[in-house]
Amino acid sequence: MEAFEGDELTIIRKFEHIEHCLKKQVEAHVSTQFENIHFVHMSLPEIDKDEIDLSVEFLGRRFDYPIMIAGMTGGTKGSQLAGKINKTLAKAAQELNIPMGVGSQRAMIRKPETWESYYVRDVAPDVFLVGNLGAPQFAETMPGRYGIEEALKAVETIQADALAIHLNPLQESVQPEGDTQYKGVLKALAELKGEFPYPIIAKETGAGVSMEVAVRLESIGIDAIDVGGLGGTSWSGVEYYRAKDERSRNLALKFWDWGIPTALSVAEVRYATDLPIIATGGMRDGITMAKAIALGANLAGVALPLLKPAVKGDVEGVVKILLRYIDELKNAMFLVGAKNVDELRKVPLVVTGFTREWLEQRIDLREYLRNRCAR
Ligand SMILES: Cc1cc2nc3c(=O)[nH]c(=O)nc-3n(C[C@H](O)[C@H](O)[C@H](O)COP(=O)(O)O)c2cc1C
Repeated sequence: MEAFEGDELTIIRKFEHIEHCLKKQVEAHVSTQFENIHFVHMSLPEIDKDEIDLSVEFLGRRFDYPIMIAGMTGGTKGSQLAGKINKTLAKAAQELNIPMGVGSQRAMIRKPETWESYYVRDVAPDVFLVGNLGAPQFAETMPGRYGIEEALKAVETIQADALAIHLNPLQESVQPEGDTQYKGVLKALAELKGEFPYPIIAKETGAGVSMEVAVRLESIGIDAIDVGGLGGTSWSGVEYYRAKDERSRNLALKFWDWGIPTALSVAEVRYATDLPIIATGGMRDGITMAKAIALGANLAGVALPLLKPAVKGDVEGVVKILLRYIDELKNAMFLVGAKNVDELRKVPLVVTGFTREWLEQRIDLREYLRNRCAR
């Protein structure tokens, strides 16, 4: 590994991430906490299942389903694998009219020739596409820090509609070569927001966004938050497999289950801000997605389960998984009598166990459950 520096390292790292995500158990050992959120079954739904409308509006666009394919890749070695994954995901997103993100474009900023591995417009002309850069690259102390120029390059090279800035201090802190500069990131994002003509989504990657962070992001004009909560893919888990020595392995293992579970993060962000929310992190069925939306999310995001079919170029495989989620989501909506997503956001919920304890210590739970639909 020592033989590689800078660009090469970024590219090799992304390749290793995909390999571990495909071959190893990389998910959190703790739950998203959605098992403690309960719908109240409605024996008189007073709607026809066939009339249920799953469409949603998000950042000025209408999608057929409240589901997003979360960003995973781009710029890997040879750029062939990443390109194939992104194009496969994009074809599925185009078919279903749902938004999708690409993975970190850091490799593309450093090696512009890898741009094609992020480019999907040829197969997905209408998809709402989200570019991706990392927050540490904007930090005050980062040599050659990013600014408006790199942000514009990320979006415009691939004709994206918005930019996600990923917040991943957990992952960076447990990898030996991690970028742990985070000083001045908020100020840099505020400056970027002031001049950048595209929506910016602040995106965690598996450790969740707290209400304190959400309030700060809202105060600088960030357009949406992807909570990227705990309970799905663990980036400390992925780094555990990449660790080359005992010390790094230990650190990654200890922080494998660090973070705010996705359900709690959605509730915190919805309680504290009016921002659109994407609930990503451990979304593995449509009932969980329905709960996330009922808690106040606008979209549910999914990454890891789609990787396997995407690597094989299996568009139908990706669509099949998403259609299963959609079937389950629609059925849950029928059983709570919600004929559209707005109505789903107003149905009664019961909160139990650890989830209740957490939320009662962090927010006024009764007020939140009463008002979440007003947002
Ligand atoms: C193979 C893989 C690569 C990823 N790469 C990125 C990335 O480059 N940038 C980013 O913001 N998130 C990245 N993520 C994080 C996902 O977007 C998502 O937030 C996280 O995996 C949680 O969702 P999940 O539990 O459905 O996998 C990646 C996820 C996977 C599985």
